[in-house]
Amino acid sequence: MQRIFRLITRVAPTDSTVLVVGESGTGKELVARALHLQSRRSAGPFVPVNCGALPETLIESELFGYARGAFTGAQAPRAGLIEEAEGGTLFLDEIGETPLPTQVKLLRFLENNEVRRLGENETRLVDVRVIAATNKDLQAEVRAGRFREDLFYRLNVVTIEVPPLRERREDIGLLATYFLERVARKLGRPGVRFAPATTEVLESYDYPGNVRELENAVEHAATLAEGTAITPADLPPAMLVPRMLPETGSAAVLGEEPVPERPAESGQPPVGARETWSLADVEREHIQRVLLRHRGNTTQAARQLGISRTTLWRKMREYGIKRKSR
Ligand SMILES: Nc1ncnc2c1ncn2[C@@H]1O[C@H](COP(=O)(O)OP(=O)(O)O)[C@@H](O)[C@H]1O
Ligand SMILES: [Mg+2]
Repeated sequence: MQRIFRLITRVAPTDSTVLVVGESGTGKELVARALHLQSRRSAGPFVPVNCGALPETLIESELFGYARGAFTGAQAPRAGLIEEAEGGTLFLDEIGETPLPTQVKLLRFLENNEVRRLGENETRLVDVRVIAATNKDLQAEVRAGRFREDLFYRLNVVTIEVPPLRERREDIGLLATYFLERVARKLGRPGVRFAPATTEVLESYDYPGNVRELENAVEHAATLAEGTAITPADLPPAMLVPRMLPETGSAAVLGEEPVPERPAESGQPPVGARETWSLADVEREHIQRVLLRHRGNTTQAARQLGISRTTLWRKMREYGIKRKSR
């Protein structure tokens, strides 16, 4: 994130169009707002538009405005969001979802800084900086014929890529602490903190919903926690279900990354891609995680695993798993 903030500082003062790319929940809107606040337009408005949320006719009247009588129900003329962003920044969110006919009109606006309200003939000159965001691969959308190439190049003057949270794990601890302090203040519960086992779960989770998911998880956990220490059991259940295979774990399969040999009888699963694990490795890791989730309570762990307590004890002995309650 530090790297991105340095980039923002450099790009913000220029008036150039910026394309912010990243998965949902990575902080694209936050980046757009930071660009606005650090620009010479900061005193002007920041106007966000979700280009994917509305059908073609509605998004066009939203963006470009309309004249009185332009369509049924247009009783009074209205300025569109582009005009409302005068002197400020227009944030086109989910730009990859924009209907093709609207893309043509957007391109025209970007090229001559002019808008024409629906049902009007004259155009109006506007002074607006555009920042667009997408969670799609726009180049792939261009190849698939769903996104206009000319608009892509017009938007893609400067690109800021916001990586998924799982690819910048060093941010997790900082963000979690920040969100916790914020929610603790809101709940009036100073002193609430993460138990070490909880930090471990937080830092090893994959966050398909990125920072937004982490933010919600911390709020959820802080709300549920009974004492001052947040335990793994306070986290949303989805975070405690281990993912058996990494989503994009193909590097090791392709042999690009050396996979260490499994150390015999070490009691720990091998490091590296899970594709090379044996069933016993997976079973051992799963049992460990379930025990952690139930804070070492074997009765509850056995119930979740669907085995008897005696079987669980036998497996723990076999795998050398110690019963620690953290
Ligand atoms: N670096 C960050 N610091 C603090 N909060 C963040 C950070 N990145 C994202 N967030 C928060 O995560 C949530 C999702 O961010 P948002 O900008 O809406 O993501 P996107 O637009 O990519 O879906 C928001 O509540 C935002 O405030
Ligand atoms: Mg968003």
